Amino acid sequence: MSKTLSKAFASKLIAWHGVSGRSGLPWQGNRDPYAVWVSEIMLQQTQVATVLERYPRFMKRFPTVKKLATADLDDVLAEWAGLGYYSRARNLHTCAKQVMAEFGGQFPSDPILLEQLKGIGRSTAGAIAAFAFLERAPILDANVKRILARLFAIEGPIQDKAVNDRLWALATDLLPIKPVDMPVYTQALMDFGATWCTSRKPVCLGSEKKCPFAKDCQANLSDQVLLLPQKAQKTKSPEFDCNMLLMRSGNAVLLQKRPSKAIWGGLWSLPEGSWTPRVVRAKDVEISPQELFTAILPDEKSVLSKACKSVIRSHEIKHVFTHRRLWMQIWQASSSKELNFANSDLKWVPLSQLGRYGLPQPIKLLLQGLSLVRGGDLKN
Ligand code: ADE
Repeated sequence: MSKTLSKAFASKLIAWHGVSGRSGLPWQGNRDPYAVWVSEIMLQQTQVATVLERYPRFMKRFPTVKKLATADLDDVLAEWAGLGYYSRARNLHTCAKQVMAEFGGQFPSDPILLEQLKGIGRSTAGAIAAFAFLERAPILDANVKRILARLFAIEGPIQDKAVNDRLWALATDLLPIKPVDMPVYTQALMDFGATWCTSRKPVCLGSEKKCPFAKDCQANLSDQVLLLPQKAQKTKSPEFDCNMLLMRSGNAVLLQKRPSKAIWGGLWSLPEGSWTPRVVRAKDVEISPQELFTAILPDEKSVLSKACKSVIRSHEIKHVFTHRRLWMQIWQASSSKELNFANSDLKWVPLSQLGRYGLPQPIKLLLQGLSLVRGGDLKN
């Protein structure tokens, strides 16, 4: 790396942040490691605009690591509903318990120890250590990878171990000398990647703003900005079908708690059948209630068949997950009474109380769309 760039990078970036960085966000300037940790986890896969709304609410509900550790997982999941990637909420809960049990309720400042906690990767550990403890710890999220890959014209897919190791080494070399600069430097790096050195419209390719690194950036100097970083070839994620049962009895709907390790683990959803690789099905194929109940709730099929004489094919909903796409065929049914089930994961939930349950976003939208839930009944 050029000596001049490695020395000047941090101060140039901090100067850039003073003029063009983001400031005044509710999680900034806070050195409480609990508050920093929650904000970093929430910001990982959620847009800043959404976090602006949801972060203060989460902190109000769970103001300390102890409050979070002692909360019911269901309440944490319900508070997280709508933010997606629910493993983050389950990991937050587990991690809070680890901090209570293993560190007496105090987050460690060493990024190596932070990284051993549930749900905290190396870059998030660096961010928490830098923001809360002024540790000279590097971060390397997707935005930072892009900045460094361009600045140093690093070729090769960033998923490759050798490329990744090289990027970590660069991120470490570029850190400011003074620990006191770590919070603003780390924030500046995140902001620069998110707003200026963006993936598709970096400012160096426009005419409105002047990138402070234009003369240092190897990708800019060699006209490769949009070619770097190199991405691994994407394969199309597989598609699946599943049947979902929307069963009502009077003013209640039948929900099933999802197994904790599954997709939407721990949330309440409509009972669903197994996933099968998608085939384009003829839409007029009839299915009897017995067949449907056998596929979705085999242990309860006889009680269900007695109480429900018909099922109606409703619409399909497509939901895109990170690595797969799911087509949910909704079947509407009504039961003559609120049947009792041996399976305690099944529950009749009055429509007016749906807001208290953590529901997957597409299911919440479905219930809202069918006017089963009035706007005010479901929070978020
Ligand atoms: N993404 C992850 N952490 C962030 C932060 N502190 N500010 C803005 N975006 C972020």
